[in-house]
Amino acid sequence: MTNLNEMLQTKYPIIQGPIGAMNSPELIAAISNAGGFGMLALGFSSNIEEIKRLILEVKKLTDKPFGANIMIINPLNEQILPLLAESGIKTVTTSVGFPGKIYPLLHDLGMKGLHVLLSVKHAVSAEKAGADGIIAAGAEAGGLRSTGSESSTMVLVPMIADSVNIPVIAAGGIADSRGYRAALALGAQGVQIGTRFLACTESPAQQRWKDQIVNCEDGGTDLLPVDYLMMRAIITPELRERLNSPDFDIKKEFKLANASKAWESADFDLVPAGAGQVSALIHDIKPVKDIIDEMVR
Ligand SMILES: Cc1cc2nc3c(=O)[nH]c(=O)nc-3n(C[C@H](O)[C@H](O)[C@H](O)COP(=O)(O)O)c2cc1C
Repeated sequence: MTNLNEMLQTKYPIIQGPIGAMNSPELIAAISNAGGFGMLALGFSSNIEEIKRLILEVKKLTDKPFGANIMIINPLNEQILPLLAESGIKTVTTSVGFPGKIYPLLHDLGMKGLHVLLSVKHAVSAEKAGADGIIAAGAEAGGLRSTGSESSTMVLVPMIADSVNIPVIAAGGIADSRGYRAALALGAQGVQIGTRFLACTESPAQQRWKDQIVNCEDGGTDLLPVDYLMMRAIITPELRERLNSPDFDIKKEFKLANASKAWESADFDLVPAGAGQVSALIHDIKPVKDIIDEMVR
């Protein structure tokens, strides 16, 4: 089986999880410089010039490899992927959509792709469709989910590792060396980290978002409907009060189209602060290098 570190050309098999449209060259470069795999979040990108600018900014800050996440449903992918390949990006992650559509193009461009998914069934079909690896995101992860019942990382990762012959990367619930080692013990070759890198010194997230993660306690996140999907978010006492109000129609309230605006401005009335269950294990904001050094020690 392919070795994930060889594919990523990194010191450690630690991948930055994309967070909506939040891109910070400083954070991406800090992760790559610390031995992980920094990632551009291009899922919602609609501006090729902006992508070129971001790539140049990251390259000014690191000479280490980094990658990019694309959403398969983005109509601009046929322009984005050649640009990434020309820029020297060798591995991308793909989410939201059927991989069969995009993997032939990605391979023609000489790139590898890791497909993000939430179930064994989708892992088996992603391998058949040409995915070079699977990012298995357990139900405790931050970010968007389906509306169905889903397995947690502890259950999903070994099931997928037993079902495919390509590298598996565990996502969801990993913030420190215990989670990292557990993921490897479950059969993953690496990890994808979202919430812990959202709450680090170099993260571009507003302080209010970082504070909500640090203050989150056991049971402090929940899945909320956002349009036709579910999203794991932090439930503050104020949000809990709103949710419990008889006038509050949750199905109409939170819109995916408002997520970027809400998260850039920390206006969590618009869309709540997305974060994983692992927030309850995060007690401080510290530099990426300290997080990764502790994780792999
Ligand atoms: C607020 C938020 C937004 C996210 N947005 C995306 C996204 O746009 N695309 C994607 O593939 N994953 C997205 N994710 C998932 C992360 O990339 C990562 O897989 C996940 O956070 C891992 O679980 P953890 O939060 O427990 O570390 C998001 C996660 C969070 C917390």
